[in-house]
Amino acid sequence: MKETKRAVVSGVHGYVPSYALTNNELERMVDTSDEWVTTRTGIKERRILKEEGVGTSFMGINAVQGLLQKTGTDPQTVDLLICATITPDMITPATANIISHAVGAINAFSYDLQAACSGFLYALDTATQFIASGRAKKAIVVGADKMSSITDYSDRATCILFGDGAGAVLVTAGDAHDDYGILDSICKTDGIGQNLLYQKAGGSRLPASHATVNAKQHYIYQEGQAVFKTAVTAMSQVVLDIMAKNNLTAEELAYLVPHQANKRILQVVADRAGIPIEKVMLNIDKFGNTTAATIPLCLWEYENKLKQGDKLILTAFGGGFTWGATYMTWAYDGFE
Ligand code: UT7
Repeated sequence: MKETKRAVVSGVHGYVPSYALTNNELERMVDTSDEWVTTRTGIKERRILKEEGVGTSFMGINAVQGLLQKTGTDPQTVDLLICATITPDMITPATANIISHAVGAINAFSYDLQAACSGFLYALDTATQFIASGRAKKAIVVGADKMSSITDYSDRATCILFGDGAGAVLVTAGDAHDDYGILDSICKTDGIGQNLLYQKAGGSRLPASHATVNAKQHYIYQEGQAVFKTAVTAMSQVVLDIMAKNNLTAEELAYLVPHQANKRILQVVADRAGIPIEKVMLNIDKFGNTTAATIPLCLWEYENKLKQGDKLILTAFGGGFTWGATYMTWAYDGFE
């Protein structure tokens, strides 16, 4: 009988554009203040991809090239590449195809996956199943979004939130008897959120037209308060559920790795799960909400602090609604 393999995160890398859009600069663009944005969201600045003519793949390629280099991985040995994004370079082909081609992953089958801010978690869960079944031995999961391409910089309710970035992890096949790797995952969806966080036009229901452009329907829109309340409840519950399912206590946990949408949401989720804030990965102050990229960007930034055997819970909530949590044991020591 074929033995099931354990999916193991064996490396992480990230890329953020160099341009930092600060709260002070936003004060000059819309009616807001550094004080309001900082206290309501925890964000001080976000990175923006300013270069003309490049999209999400540009950041994804940079993240994946860095990942291949630092892990000493021959791109031709990668057999699967999934890119989670809501801002693909084009509707078709998939941004994942563009990334695979650019990095020389010629033997990988690659595709995009869209689950908004939960995209990275969904893609990681998908890659985990391919590894477990033996269908793939080496996978790359990319979370990448150029949120500035769908942000209305005259709308103070959304333009303060979002930034651009990409993060990527290498997922390899380990021994199912090992303690290291992805141990459990819960993914949830409820379409009740479809009109609470969405981009109205540009799809098949309302294709691009002069009217949709004039009505600013190609920008991201959200009912902030409603999304906030649902995010707090859903993320707290799914974190508690995965802890209970795996008999995991807050004391045993090394880090909670949450999607970075709002620092206040993360504080409440951590409180409800009994996890001290020092054990919560945070970089929202520097990068804002980069949608599918927030979780791998956190792992990348904290990589040096992580030790083999550290227990992590990744969690996200986003448009759809989509949400979930992944429980993993970190497989290698950081480079500090
Ligand atoms: O990543 C996917 C999931 N997304 C989320 O989880 C985001 C969830 N939502 C949020 O993070 C928060 O709802 C926001 C940060 C978007 C907004 O914060 P809030 O505390 O919910 O503010 P609010 O929308 O209730 O607005 C409060 C007030 C309003 O003024 P009035 O009506 O009380 O006079 C807004 O017009 O704040 C005003 N406001 C602003 N004021 C200064 C809204 N945006 C701004 C702004 N600067 N940028």
